[in-house]
Amino acid sequence: MKAAIVRKRGAHPEYGEFPDPVVTEGRGLVDLVAAGIHPIVRSLATGQHYGSTGSWPLIPGVDAVARTADGALIYTGYVEPPYGTLAERMAVPVGLRVTLPAGADPVAIAGGVNPGLASWLPLRARLQQTAALGTVLVLGATGVAGQLAVQNAFLCGATKVVAAGRNPAALERVSAAGAVVVALTGDHDQDAAALSAAMSGQPPGLVLDFVWGEPAEATFAALQRHGREEDTADIAYVEVGAMAGSVASVPAALLRSRRIGSLAAEPAPSRSPTSWPRHPRTCSASPMGASTPPSASSRSPRWPWPGMPPPRADRGWWWSPADGNLRPRGVRRRRSAMAMAGAARTR
Ligand SMILES: NC(=O)c1ccc[n+]([C@@H]2O[C@H](COP(=O)([O-])OP(=O)(O)OC[C@H]3O[C@@H](n4cnc5c(N)ncnc54)[C@H](OP(=O)(O)O)[C@@H]3O)[C@@H](O)[C@H]2O)c1
Repeated sequence: MKAAIVRKRGAHPEYGEFPDPVVTEGRGLVDLVAAGIHPIVRSLATGQHYGSTGSWPLIPGVDAVARTADGALIYTGYVEPPYGTLAERMAVPVGLRVTLPAGADPVAIAGGVNPGLASWLPLRARLQQTAALGTVLVLGATGVAGQLAVQNAFLCGATKVVAAGRNPAALERVSAAGAVVVALTGDHDQDAAALSAAMSGQPPGLVLDFVWGEPAEATFAALQRHGREEDTADIAYVEVGAMAGSVASVPAALLRSRRIGSLAAEPAPSRSPTSWPRHPRTCSASPMGASTPPSASSRSPRWPWPGMPPPRADRGWWWSPADGNLRPRGVRRRRSAMAMAGAARTR
């Protein structure tokens, strides 16, 4: 079959022939319709993600919208390495087939479910622990996952959402959606003061952190308590991503003085579908248009596949098994030889 193939660590993905997937028990073959190029797809392919197998060649891709043998459109994933979803065919678990609602855009679903679930699952888990969400703080609210997190927090009943990030256009979008916005500057004291002011003395019940690094350290400073009276806060901190750095210092006094704990961002794969929204559209279709990348300039330095142009500001990126090209969303097959340069839905 045709597939995108990463032949060794750090190599560019190539369009080529790969053996058909071996269908093991509990799995079935489906055909690709659209697959998202999420940050995890790139970090697994380059071996940087903790879930990487560390062996190549491999087909990248963690999830997809696919067509079953009887013609149904499903959202699916969890393909066994070295296989991935950027391939004509994939063997997916029979238990992981979420039927698309009628009229749903396969491309929006393929691009939006992974970043959408990143907030949806911890929000639902937190709701099971507490009667109400109260205030939710979203760190890195300007990316695809962060913008969807703001939307999902409101959908799940948050009374207030504080959204912190540095991309002004995306901050405007989350502000229009009702969030209290904090423009991060990279200056620790300034960011801590701005976060503290936005929370107005009411610590959040849930922090969804897509960036870690300096913004997380500023948040720890903003959450730090002063005084010895009883603390009523109960803060669940979910580390979802590390776009701003893989390390952040946690002050001892914060852990000593506050009830603050970590909630796992990634539930066991076998449990995931039961806690998903009934329709994947719920967490992937955004009134803010958040299923598209925030800006080309912000993404290009991190794009790990040299030779592949960065995504455009207003487009998603999709891989077409028809000719191996990646094209921006909505752009149909072109005749140019721009291998790996865009995205497309295939049907
Ligand atoms: N665990 C999961 O299940 C899961 C699922 C989805 C995503 N994630 C993780 O969540 C993270 C975000 O994913 P995404 O899809 O939203 O990525 P994305 O669309 O590329 O957005 C990344 C965002 O991070 C921001 N950022 C980068 N460095 C920053 C800094 N120093 N200070 C403030 N903001 C900064 C960027 O802002 P600028 O525009 O200003 O550059 C951008 O808006 C990734 O680490 C991803 O792996 C995890």
